[in-house]
Amino acid sequence: MSSIAIGARQYEWRTVLRHRAPLRVMHWINLACMLALAGSGLQIFNAHPALYWGTASHFERPLLAMDGMRGADGKGRGVTRVGDASFETTGVLGVSKASDGRMVQRGFPEWATIPGPRSLALGRRWHFFFAWLWVINGACYLAWSLASRHLSRDLAMQGRDWRAVPRSIAEHLRFHHPVGAEALRYNPLQKLAYLGVIFVLAPLAVLTGLSMSPQLDGVLGWWLAIVGGRQSARTIHFTVMALFLLFTVVHVLMVVYAGPLNELRSMLSGRFRVRWPRTEGEDGE
Ligand code: HEM
Repeated sequence: MSSIAIGARQYEWRTVLRHRAPLRVMHWINLACMLALAGSGLQIFNAHPALYWGTASHFERPLLAMDGMRGADGKGRGVTRVGDASFETTGVLGVSKASDGRMVQRGFPEWATIPGPRSLALGRRWHFFFAWLWVINGACYLAWSLASRHLSRDLAMQGRDWRAVPRSIAEHLRFHHPVGAEALRYNPLQKLAYLGVIFVLAPLAVLTGLSMSPQLDGVLGWWLAIVGGRQSARTIHFTVMALFLLFTVVHVLMVVYAGPLNELRSMLSGRFRVRWPRTEGEDGE
């Protein structure tokens, strides 16, 4: 075992089992599903790349719209409107390059959608297949987390977590790296982010997704009444996807900051290396 000194303190490296096998498998299935769902969702969105609030599409007042138009030079221009503001987004949103090199009118570009070329039918097939796989994987994760007490022990916010929120914010701002047992616990901000994704974003994605199906009017009519209509459900579904994406970007940045190889290994093989303070009386090497 190697030991290191930082200031007056002595540390040693310890390798511990951080994430158990079922959690690791479900985490990576989740990522594969999320990628397929985001790509195929954007393909479906491209069939009508605009969002509205309420029961109907008021074409003249969308909340968000990606359009293509012809500029004075005769070339296609992509314009994205958010409320009353509009932005030139040629090349990415509204108008982008297709795989055959032509500039074409489409909401999101080919590289962001599954499949790349326009196909609503294939996009829906991908989306519904991975949606059910994702729901089954999520249900297994919840059942396992409850049965193994992972949820109550590792993820649930305890009184001391709430009290530690301000300290955790300060530590994040100071780029503090925890050591010892503290490095093996999720910090309060991390817990809140995970709980938000699991208990707020995921149920909202399922609810808004199901409520876009006309066949579920009878069962989910109450929910459509709350949000004000199917167009609102579609807008919330899209926003939830954007928040999932934001979570993923921050999540991956935190993994990179915390030590990408060690963190990734802990989610692949379970093994995690942690700096542990040496107790007095232990010999150095
Ligand atoms: C390339 C993408 C991703 C990478 C590299 C990654 C990596 C990791 C790593 C290393 C951990 C363990 C963190 C720790 O022990 O402190 C973790 C946990 C977690 N990740 Fe990801 N992740 C990715 C994508 C996602 C996505 C898309 C979601 C969900 C939208 C997600 C949700 C979670 C959750 C909820 C946990 C905590 C699991 C638990 O303990 O129950 N991850 N991830």
